[in-house]
Amino acid sequence: MAEHRATEATSANIKAVESKFPSDKQRGLVSVNDLKKYFPVRGGLLNRTVAHVQAVDGVSFDVKSGETLGIVGESGCGKSTTARLLMRLISPDSGDIIIDGKGVGPGGISLRDMRRQMQMVFQDSFASLNPRLTIEDTIAFGPMVHGISQDEARTRARDLLAKVGLDPNLFIRRYPHELSGGQRQRINIARALALEPRIVILDEAVSALDKSVEAQVLNLLMDLKQDFGLTYIFISHDLHVVHYMSDRVLVMYLGKVVEIGPVEQIYESPRHPYTQALLSAMPSMDPDNRAEKPPLSGDPPNPINPPSGCRFHTRCPFAEDVCRSQVPTLEVIDAKSGQLVACHMVQHGSGHSAVSVQEPSMSAPQ
Ligand SMILES: Nc1ncnc2c1ncn2[C@@H]1O[C@H](COP(=O)(O)OP(=O)(O)OP(=O)(O)O)[C@@H](O)[C@H]1O
Ligand code: SF4
Ligand SMILES: [Mg+2]
Repeated sequence: MAEHRATEATSANIKAVESKFPSDKQRGLVSVNDLKKYFPVRGGLLNRTVAHVQAVDGVSFDVKSGETLGIVGESGCGKSTTARLLMRLISPDSGDIIIDGKGVGPGGISLRDMRRQMQMVFQDSFASLNPRLTIEDTIAFGPMVHGISQDEARTRARDLLAKVGLDPNLFIRRYPHELSGGQRQRINIARALALEPRIVILDEAVSALDKSVEAQVLNLLMDLKQDFGLTYIFISHDLHVVHYMSDRVLVMYLGKVVEIGPVEQIYESPRHPYTQALLSAMPSMDPDNRAEKPPLSGDPPNPINPPSGCRFHTRCPFAEDVCRSQVPTLEVIDAKSGQLVACHMVQHGSGHSAVSVQEPSMSAPQ
């Protein structure tokens, strides 16, 4: 059973990953290696597992210290599952998550230490907060659980409130229902920072806010990143916001990474047909230029029974036989920038006609 294969990384496989990424620079602050999560689907009279949703299937990436890695992709492609796996809110079926050279589990860091280093802010600002706790207790709770004295934790809560732009004297005694959505999200950010993490995962953290509040919270996040030397993993369906926030972007399709690279390179020269389609469907910010190219046709296929070979082949205008039979691997196509793409069309020797008749650099339609 895939679910039961889920275990904390053993010291043996932590060592294996550490030897694959010998230096911190190569390894990144966070390294994710071949992560998998299949959710069981139950059915029938006996409520047995009848299938699996392949939510995250062999995802690998690095996040470098101090950068913001944006994660984009259509609804259901596995963005939140990846985030929840990173936080160990759910256990992976297989794969490794290495934080600053150490895995979580025997021989690595404890779950408690990992959560100190990595925090998450969710989309639903209200559901994320305990309605019975004052704002002060909400922020001070985490540090107190981690052994910080009540006085120090309360002082930290006041300082953080000021940092996220809320006057401590006005807000410290309030409850979540007495705040606006933007204010609640500022509290969630303050709470995430209360344990002095190095990495913050923001999963659609600004998506529920109206545009003017969203802009304020985005600027706040930029300032906090600078002030506290944070590293962000920024998940959003809004491609403009991801462009604004990110240093690098990772594109997911149906549980797999299809492209990753520096934000400008991805937005200006996407090489994977899915990234190209996603970006061409992006609404223009220029009102005189709203004639968009047609968006991706059709819905993403069912992740319970994804297409063979390249999962995008059922919607890709460049699909050939090799795409239907062989899974493309994520490979470096530009060593200088570190752009990686999983597409037969840009991989020399794959058997795709675009590369069998042309040089690799000429192969992919831009
Ligand atoms: N606990 C669960 N049990 C079963 N299936 C799940 C569970 N959580 C997520 N899934 C499925 O896994 C897939 C990936 O879901 P996920 O929430 O990671 O997508 P997402 O990219 O975050 O989407 P969105 O942009 O809508 O937030 C979806 O098909 C979803 O239905
Ligand atoms: S591998 Fe084939 S189907 Fe997949 S994106 Fe590339 S060209 Fe399209
Ligand atoms: Mg999600």
